[in-house]
Amino acid sequence: MIEEEEDRARRMRWWHEAKFGMFIHFGLYSVIGRHEWAMEMEGIPVAEYEKLAEQFNPKPNAAREWARLAKRAGMKYMVMTTKHHEGFCLFDTEFTDYCAPKRACGRDLVAEFVEAARAEGLRVGFYYSLMDWHHPDGARCVEDEAARKRFVKYIHGQVRELMTNYGKIDILWYDVPWPLDAEGWESARMNRMVRELQPGIIINNRSGLPEDFSTPEQHVRGEPAGRAWETCMTMNDSWGYHKADDNWKTPKQILRYLITCARDGGNYLLNIGPKPDGSVPEESVHILNVVGEWMDKYGHTIYGAEPCDVKRSCFANFTRKGTTLYVHIHFWPGEEWAIGGIRTKVKSAKLLPEGEPVKFEQNEFHVRFKDLPSEAPDNPISVLELECESIPTQDMIFVRKNMPRGKV
Ligand code: GLC
Repeated sequence: MIEEEEDRARRMRWWHEAKFGMFIHFGLYSVIGRHEWAMEMEGIPVAEYEKLAEQFNPKPNAAREWARLAKRAGMKYMVMTTKHHEGFCLFDTEFTDYCAPKRACGRDLVAEFVEAARAEGLRVGFYYSLMDWHHPDGARCVEDEAARKRFVKYIHGQVRELMTNYGKIDILWYDVPWPLDAEGWESARMNRMVRELQPGIIINNRSGLPEDFSTPEQHVRGEPAGRAWETCMTMNDSWGYHKADDNWKTPKQILRYLITCARDGGNYLLNIGPKPDGSVPEESVHILNVVGEWMDKYGHTIYGAEPCDVKRSCFANFTRKGTTLYVHIHFWPGEEWAIGGIRTKVKSAKLLPEGEPVKFEQNEFHVRFKDLPSEAPDNPISVLELECESIPTQDMIFVRKNMPRGKV
């Protein structure tokens, strides 16, 4: 058990350090442009949906644009849908003709993706949906044992291909185990095979087994200490390309999510849904460029951040490395303001990125900063660096109980 934990810690070191990755949802649904669930949500018959495979033909090496964008945004890894629920495979497979190399596209898009990520020095992850709306056994496998056996052979066979044909793969990101459970999928056996083929790999928790990390979706929620987690999130409301979905988050919102993940010991996997030709929606490009400019200056407050006990403020958030506390101010409150409940002596305060000293005074209830600029020194988020005497902690209940009270 201890050995297993040590092995896991070793395998996951880079991932914990990395904090920030790119998710890519790409498939036939990109052609429709109405969300990656269009096939089921609109009840599109398989025979009709399949025809999209004759239209889906992205420009060669579109993945290079994604990888450059990810790199510029400060992301350290990329995870792409090799097969989503629609069942269409972006990789070459001996198990079906319903795959990009054997249809209009005529190329192995997973190979292009892997090459593009590696060219930018990014780690490589494969998303693979167990649920399959196209495969004849994909639903009946739950009540028909012969179908289940065939389907498990198909799924295990494809996972083996993915783990064999593309060199070193860093992450396997399963999705939706419907309609089977871990036993039905024979997940323990499948993941043993995966680890034999890819000893360094990190596996998520969606094959019905906990494996290496949990996957909160569209929200940030930490796990008990010792359990790794990664929040995956869209920039609008759709994973796959959606022409009409204009519910874009702002770069500031995105950065605030990233900071909260880093604060609580998690990772942030931020999605793009490329258009059918492989190009990235302008709104996503804009967000990623702003995030990247910010990460150039402040990335060191995110990468390698350790879980941070200081969390409470009405205008700021926090990350921590050792005894250094970073205050990330998203609503700049002006020249003078305070952080309450800090139970550690602050030795120095600086305004990043340049590091100009900041005046402050501290008592048992707060650290009060003074003579700061009246306008936010940076956008979308300004950062203060506080050097503390020990690992900083925050206790708001202490403040509530012990602040001298007034008279009735
Ligand atoms: C959900 C959705 C899917 C998406 C995934 C990403 O499970 O079914 O469309 O790929 O979340 O986490």
